[in-house]
Amino acid sequence: MIVLGIETSCDETGVALYNTTPWEEGKPAFQGILGQGLHSQIAMHRDYGGVVPELASRDHIRRVLPLLDQSLAQSRLKMADIDAVAFTQGPGLAGALLVGSAFAKALAQGLNLPSIGIHHLEGHLLSPLLGQTVPKFPFIALLVSGGHTQLMKVSGIGQYELLGETLDDAAGEAFDKTAKLLGLDYPGGAAISKLAQQGRTGMFDLPKPMLHSGDMDFSFSGLKTAVLNQTKKFSEKNISDTNEIAQFHADLARSFVDSIVAVLVSKSEKALKQTGCKHLVLAGGVGANLQLRNALNENAMKHRFEVHYPPFELCTDNGVMIAFAGALRMLAQNNDSNKSGGFDIKPRWDLQSNNLQ
Ligand code: KG4
Ligand code: ZN
Repeated sequence: MIVLGIETSCDETGVALYNTTPWEEGKPAFQGILGQGLHSQIAMHRDYGGVVPELASRDHIRRVLPLLDQSLAQSRLKMADIDAVAFTQGPGLAGALLVGSAFAKALAQGLNLPSIGIHHLEGHLLSPLLGQTVPKFPFIALLVSGGHTQLMKVSGIGQYELLGETLDDAAGEAFDKTAKLLGLDYPGGAAISKLAQQGRTGMFDLPKPMLHSGDMDFSFSGLKTAVLNQTKKFSEKNISDTNEIAQFHADLARSFVDSIVAVLVSKSEKALKQTGCKHLVLAGGVGANLQLRNALNENAMKHRFEVHYPPFELCTDNGVMIAFAGALRMLAQNNDSNKSGGFDIKPRWDLQSNNLQ
């Protein structure tokens, strides 16, 4: 079965074609990726310091068809070879979701194919199955994206249990807001992580929020405020030496990254202990963070669990994860997909409510 995946939930237009044959034959799942196209709108939104929903929707409209052509050309397939269409149904920006949903539904209806709406986070949390080492069910997923921070127990395809989540800002949001405070462009996650590599550890005593709360929830807004307070204190000193300013930014970035990584690692370890799971997967945009990966690897050695990652380029939003999740869902529910004409979207959507029975 060849599944077309369409992702348009936020500021990336992603299209991909996935062939389920390797998965069914027990070969590495990444072998099923036939072709993909991705366009990031980051440059377009940068001037505004964040995503402008209306601009995002319009750009998805412009990009989606050329990206489909690109994916088909790369995979040497024709439209007639597609067996099903998967699209991100939610959560995300309503207008952006509508573009992908309308496109997918129209295509499916025109070609008389089944279509399936996918939860964006399910796409992220199954993407480590496309990596070099494959986690075994049940596993714990640490989902850290621009909009979400969650720990989930994944018992199988469509079997997800929320163990804990952020009470305020998402991890990616904390990265982006802190980056802005340090004068870095949106979205600052990758930039702040690079800057932190030049910083010295332990120069600032930033909080590690909810580290000892005893549960698996998170809170990051206080950390951002602590960074803000440090920047205010520093600007009161009226320092003009550019080297000193650069060192201050790097040291503060380092303390910020150290704090956030310590909390994410500790809570993941707790989730593993409490559920008895031996496999952890890291998913979502913040999963590209090298400090977090290194800390999780170290912790895995120490506590004897395995940690798995999606391929680096599939950490942030993409069409492959939606095609893949659509394919696995269709196999798991015997192609029980939606042939109806409506293109309902779910801008707010609880993943567990979409579990398979
Ligand atoms: O999963 P994603 O592409 O989009 C959402 O579904 O939200 O995640 C985007 C987030 C942004 O907040 C971005 O700053 C963050 O992932 N991010 C990173 C890194 N690369 C992307 N955060 C920390 N370190 C990185 N290397
Ligand atoms: Zn995402």
